[in-house]
Amino acid sequence: YRVAVLISGSGSNLQAMIDAQQSGDLGNAEVVLVVSDRADAYGLQRALKHRIAAAFVPLRHPRDPAARAEWERRLADVTAAFNPDLIVLAGFMRVLSPVFLDRFPNRVINQHPALLPDDGGDTFTTSRGIIIPALRGAHVVADALRLGLPITGCTIHRVTPAVDDGPVLARAEVPILPGDTEMTLHERIKQVEHRLIVEVVTQLARLK
Ligand code: GRF
Repeated sequence: YRVAVLISGSGSNLQAMIDAQQSGDLGNAEVVLVVSDRADAYGLQRALKHRIAAAFVPLRHPRDPAARAEWERRLADVTAAFNPDLIVLAGFMRVLSPVFLDRFPNRVINQHPALLPDDGGDTFTTSRGIIIPALRGAHVVADALRLGLPITGCTIHRVTPAVDDGPVLARAEVPILPGDTEMTLHERIKQVEHRLIVEVVTQLARLK
């Protein structure tokens, strides 16, 4: 079961999958490709250290729709060359349109560091019955703190053209502690994400 991982940054979730694979805890899944839109993404080095193919596909003119579509085509071509069964967006900070997504129907999943509901709605009800806003976008850890929420978490969902939406595969709640900063909170969320992404990839590989 072949997994491609798209990243923009540190790649600690990528590392969690690599570690699980090496200790035999990723079922029959294996990471075969890591792609980044940023040359300096540390995750690219993690890939190479573990002898996993890595690609850098830059988006030079993010605001030009034609350049963006062309970039998505290049990204899809590189990815398709590795015949992935699954594509994991693990801290990939760009929105993908149908130009990319239509090449891999139902094969793309995303990690999101906040709690998202099943129905695409604007709120999420926690296990203790607290109704909190569904946080979408690129700054949701800071948003959770700014709103003074007692709880946040992480979600793994299938990717549809709507941003931070699509069928939820797994989620976990993470309490917000007094004194938390964006960094300490995000770090605690990531610890949970590492476990969750390994579970989901293993499960999807088993179901194939
Ligand atoms: C994760 O929190 C993920 O949910 C978000 O970006 C972060 C990626 O972290 N989309 P890393 O690069 O895997 O360390």
